[in-house]
Formats: sequence, structure tokens, C-alpha cells
Amino acid sequence: MNRTLAIIKPDAVASGKAGKILAHLENAGFTVRALRLARLTEAQAGEFYAVHAERPFYGELVEFMTSGPCMPMILEAEGAVPKLREVIGATDPAEAAEGTVRRLYAESKGRNAIHASDSDENAAREAGFFFAEADVLAIHA
Ligand code: TYD
Repeated sequence: MNRTLAIIKPDAVASGKAGKILAHLENAGFTVRALRLARLTEAQAGEFYAVHAERPFYGELVEFMTSGPCMPMILEAEGAVPKLREVIGATDPAEAAEGTVRRLYAESKGRNAIHASDSDENAAREAGFFFAEADVLAIHA
């Protein structure tokens, strides 16, 4: 089993779509291992998206991600990272495949409802922004 980090972004939490998106992820076969509400500071959002610091959309992205509560979660599934990228769809909802989370729930390329880690390495790094190892629910037989 593998894990990835998802964030239901402030646009989707504010418009009351968090529950529908969570149901979509569960229906797609993911198990929730950790979940919380968070309000990112400018420093936290800036660090989370540091890889994009030189991009023209960086300022707007940080402003958006700090604009209200978001919902980070650790999801588990076989091949969790590529599976979740497929389930959320392309960055721009206009280009996202039918039935994907972004096609169904995102407002725009910038306000696009959900984040998903793009590699196992980033999944581990990003999980560490929001959760301690002890917060991650482990089911022991
Ligand atoms: P990126 O990592 O390229 O996309 P994804 O979230 O699909 O992995 O970009 C991070 C976020 O930055 C993206 O979800 C929304 C925002 N963004 C823009 O606002 N405009 C853009 O042109 C791009 C590429 C991203």
C-alpha cells in the first residue's frame, strides 16, 4: 500500500464541496489515514509551493491558499500517487477529463479544488507539513 497527500483547497471548502470531494475520493478506492482542517499562513503556503517561487502565478497561488481553511489529508491506496493524480484530473478544469474531481468541482486553473502530490518523495515531504507520524492511523491486525 502507498500513501499520498491531498489538500481540498480553500475554494472547495468555502463553497461546501469538501464532503462531496471526500466521498468521491473514498468511492475511487482511497482510505483516509489522517485528516484535518488547516489555515495556512503566508510563510507555510510559500514554503509548500516553493518550487513555483519564480512562476508568475506564485503570488496569487499563495494568496489563494491562505484565503480560508483547507483540508489536508493522507490517503492510502495501491499506487496512491499516480492514482490520485488521475482521479483529480488536469490542473485546468477546462482540460480535465470527464468525471475527475477538478472537472466536477474546480472553479478555474488557479482555484482548482484539490492538490495532490506528484511523487512519493513529495508525498512524504508534504505530509510532514500537516501531520506527525503519530497522527497517521495505522490499523494493526
Ligand atoms: P502545478 O504543480 O503545475 O499543478 P498541479 O496542482 O496540477 O500539480 O501548479 C500548482 C498550482 O499552481 C496549481 O494547482 C494551480 C496553480 N497554477 C496556476 O494558478 N496557474 C498556472 O498556470 C499553473 C501551471 C498553476
